[in-house]
Amino acid sequence: MGGAGMSMHTPRHLLSVGDLTAPALQAILERSLALKRAPRAPLLAQHSLALIFEKPSLRTRVSFEVAMQELGGACVVLRPDEIQMGQRETIADIAAYLSRNVTVAALRVFAHGTLTQFAAAARIPVVNALSDWEHPCQALADVLTVREHCGRLAGVRLAYIGDGNNVCHSLLLAGALSGMQVRVACPAGYEPQAAVVAQARALGAAHGALIEIGHDPVAAVTGAAAVYTDVWTSMGQEQETAVRKQLFMPYQVNEQLMAHAPEAIVLHCLPAHRGEEITDAVIDSARSVVFDQAENRRHAQKAVLLHVLGLL
Ligand code: CP
Ligand code: NVA
Repeated sequence: MGGAGMSMHTPRHLLSVGDLTAPALQAILERSLALKRAPRAPLLAQHSLALIFEKPSLRTRVSFEVAMQELGGACVVLRPDEIQMGQRETIADIAAYLSRNVTVAALRVFAHGTLTQFAAAARIPVVNALSDWEHPCQALADVLTVREHCGRLAGVRLAYIGDGNNVCHSLLLAGALSGMQVRVACPAGYEPQAAVVAQARALGAAHGALIEIGHDPVAAVTGAAAVYTDVWTSMGQEQETAVRKQLFMPYQVNEQLMAHAPEAIVLHCLPAHRGEEITDAVIDSARSVVFDQAENRRHAQKAVLLHVLGLL
């Protein structure tokens, strides 16, 4: 595949959860569940994925690579030292080259702008496999997991405790499109970006969603059906680790905090920094669904690939 068979239309990218409509998100979830029941089908036999990493990964690499294998397609993994994005050649030239040789690309980048530059030059669909701004593949697996465990999404109350980061951004948007009640509790100065909060509120209004940003973890988890946390220091922020460890300690998801949400499941995108944002006692408890959530990345990403390729 590549040049010859390609449409000249603008490709359908997934750079943000905000690129999806609510029906598209629902369709992705339905297809994810169907693919979870029947994981192997030659649906992408004519397709090949370039999977590009500027940062480390376990789940994203394994889930995309195995997803392509199970759907009969091919996957080429490109590590940072191999392609040296924007150093050895321009981002646009890499995108143009790959557009002639693979049918879809997924990128994990430091700056979200790298992804938008790549997508602007690509003639193939581009998927955000994590940037400093969003992690949409994660959020789709997250809401899939909440739906499996809570039976629905509309009206479900989810508390996100910790850093208002990329994972929080995508979760806010996915929660908004799904009509969820998302309550964020973060230290002052570490809120999700105002533009994303406004976008989530605007998207959520049509779906009865509630988006609240606060600083009190007990208030956020009280009455929650799901409690979510992520690392305090994301990849690329390592120089802030010491400051963040101090500031975020009151936001640790531990047994005392979880006592305020006795019915709640616990989510974490992983990797977890045990003893920091989450304790062993919580992540290893019966209420933790973190490995269901991590497995769901593979199922959700198959549906994402079908969606961007117009095959859903
Ligand atoms: N959750 C997630 O994206 O994991 P990796 O960083 O291991 O890919
Ligand atoms: N917020 C984390 C998520 C890792 C999957 C990071 O960006 O490092």
